[in-house]
Amino acid sequence: MSAYHTPVMLVEVLESLSLAPGQTIVDGTLGGGGHSRPICDRIAPGGMLIGLDRDQDALDAATLALSDVPETVAVKFVRSNYADIATALNGVGIEAVDGVLLDLGVSSHQLNTPERGFALRYVGPLDMRMDVSSGQTAADLLNTLPEAEIARILFEYGEEPRARRIAAEIVRRRATRPLITTEDLVDTLRATMPFRTRPGEIHPATKTFQAIRIAVNQELDAIETALRAATNALKPGGRLVVIAYHSLEDRIVKNTMAELSGKRVETDFPSTPLPKIVEVKTKKPLTPTEEEIRANPRARSAKMRVAERRP
Ligand SMILES: C[S@@+](CC[C@H](N)C(=O)[O-])C[C@H]1O[C@@H](n2cnc3c(N)ncnc32)[C@H](O)[C@@H]1O
Repeated sequence: MSAYHTPVMLVEVLESLSLAPGQTIVDGTLGGGGHSRPICDRIAPGGMLIGLDRDQDALDAATLALSDVPETVAVKFVRSNYADIATALNGVGIEAVDGVLLDLGVSSHQLNTPERGFALRYVGPLDMRMDVSSGQTAADLLNTLPEAEIARILFEYGEEPRARRIAAEIVRRRATRPLITTEDLVDTLRATMPFRTRPGEIHPATKTFQAIRIAVNQELDAIETALRAATNALKPGGRLVVIAYHSLEDRIVKNTMAELSGKRVETDFPSTPLPKIVEVKTKKPLTPTEEEIRANPRARSAKMRVAERRP
C-alpha cells in the first residue's frame, strides 16, 4: 500500500475527522486507501466507508488495500469526481455522513507511472488525465489551444513567470510536429529556461507540468463545488477535512470554508450576511511535522483545514 502512496498527515487526519464506531465516512480521494484503511479500523464495529476516485487504478489498488477491513464495516467504492459527491452518495443510498476527507492532487502512483505522463522525469505519452476514460489529454490541449490560452494556463495554474515565452515555443514547435511525449514538452521547456537544479531545489519545469495537469483535470473548478456538496452531505457535528498541496488549492479551500462559516470573501459590496453552515476548526492550516517531511518529502507542502457542520 505504501508503495502506491504514503498517506500524508495520517495522525492529524484521523484525529480531525473525530472518528467513532458506527460512523459513515466519505474518502473523496481514495488513492491507494492509505487514509481509508485506518479510518475503517476506527469506525468499526458497524461503520461505512464510501471511497471515491476518478482513477480506476486507484479504485483497484484501494480495493486490495481494504480487502481486510473489519467485517462489520461496509465499504463502497465509486468511480466519481469528488465534485459529484451528492450523486455518488445517492447511488449508494446514503443521505448524510459523519465525515468527508479530501486529500487533493495526484498520488505517488500516478506520478511514478510513466504511461500516465504526469512526471517530467519519465518518458511517456503526454496524457496527465486522472480519469483515462474521458476528457482531453495534455497533448490534445497543447496541440490545439491558442497560444494566449496556453500562456494563461501556465501563468495562472503554474505561477510560471516565463508563461508567454513557453507558450510561444510550444506553438512554434507544434506547427511542424505535434507534442506527443513528456520528452517533447521537456525539450520545449529546455529551450526556454535554464535546466539546472541544486540538490533539494524543485526543478524549474515542475511549474509547467503542474499547470498543465491542473488544466487537463480541471482541478480547481472541482474543489469549491466539492466542498459545498460535501458540507451539504454532513450531519450536524460532521467534519470536513481537506489537505491542499499548493497555494492555488489552499486559497480555494480557505475562502470556501470562510464563506460557509458566514464570512464574505473578496467582495467590495456591503451585502447581506451569509448563512453560518460550518465552524472552521483551523484558524491557521495544520502542517506536517518535520519528522514526517523528512520521512516523506512529498508531504512538505501539505496544508490541512478542518470545518465542522453546525447543528
Ligand atoms: C493525493 S491522492 C490520495 C491518496 C490517498 N489519500 C492515500 O493516502 O492513499 C489523490 C487522489 O485523488 C484522486 N482525485 C484527484 N482529483 C479528483 C477528483 N476531482 N475526483 C475524484 N478523485 C480525484 C486522484 O486520482 C488520486 O488518486
